Amino acid sequence: MALSSKHILGMEHLSRQDIFKILSLAKQFKKQKKLPSTLKGKIVFNLFFEPSTRTQTSFEIAAKKLGATTIHINTAQSSTVKGETLSDTARTIEAMNPDVIVIRHPSSGAPYLLSKILKTPVINAGDGFHEHPTQALLDILTIEETKGRLADLRVLIVGDIAHSRIARSDIYGLTKMGAKTLVCGPPTLIPPFIEKLGVKVFYHLKEAVKETDVIIMLRIQKERHNQLQFPSYREYIKKYCLNLETLKYAKSNVMIMHPGPLNRGVEIAPEIADGPYSVILNQVSNGIVIRMALLHLMTNGEHLGTAH
Ligand code: CP
Repeated sequence: MALSSKHILGMEHLSRQDIFKILSLAKQFKKQKKLPSTLKGKIVFNLFFEPSTRTQTSFEIAAKKLGATTIHINTAQSSTVKGETLSDTARTIEAMNPDVIVIRHPSSGAPYLLSKILKTPVINAGDGFHEHPTQALLDILTIEETKGRLADLRVLIVGDIAHSRIARSDIYGLTKMGAKTLVCGPPTLIPPFIEKLGVKVFYHLKEAVKETDVIIMLRIQKERHNQLQFPSYREYIKKYCLNLETLKYAKSNVMIMHPGPLNRGVEIAPEIADGPYSVILNQVSNGIVIRMALLHLMTNGEHLGTAH
């Protein structure tokens, strides 16, 4: 296998060398006009227990571009609603001989559980508060492409850090690639351990954006809050919404990212999301080549097949 990890469960345990391999192949796929059918005859199972627009569809497009058959389980209509456990569902899917299982689940650790009981390679497409490694990989590719490097860049992540699997994966991944990560948000939405990961913490957005090369805005994950952990949306918008006024404090070549879905007017003003510094749609496009690279490396080894 080309990657040292059989499964992709998170950025915390993905080696720098594996990250380089994935980025390099994604860039190669981006340049290639004719794609090789390296996944011909293979089956990719998408098992999504939470809603998704970008991740689910880009895994499907990525697999199909390389010639695979994709199966999407609509979990609302699967036997899990009749009481089947996740383990039994996973073993049932494995009995149909898939080549890769992609899983999104509200419980942190669900992909890890599958990796322990299955022989099939598992990709984490987002698990609870834990990690979303393919989002981090596409974010890293987008930053490198736009800025021309990763080393020594200052990347600020703003918002609901405590409930964000993307923040966690971005911090692990970007730090491994030599970038410096900073976070900003209300004290109740910043986890207390975060500084141990080498992250600098800010509570005032205008202060945080000053020396930043890249700003990643996050959605408030209201569905994951046990109780409202900030005073009010009005207060949050006043202090943490990235708008034209806040952007005056940023560098003239700052780049703005958001993993989506966006809550326009809450964490990001529409004129910023659609403005000249935004690379939000580049992130979406890069999601396809990153997932193509992963699927290829997890099923084929190093070498690309012959283009058709
Ligand atoms: N960024 C992201 O994971 O988006 P989706 O929830 O639409 O997949």
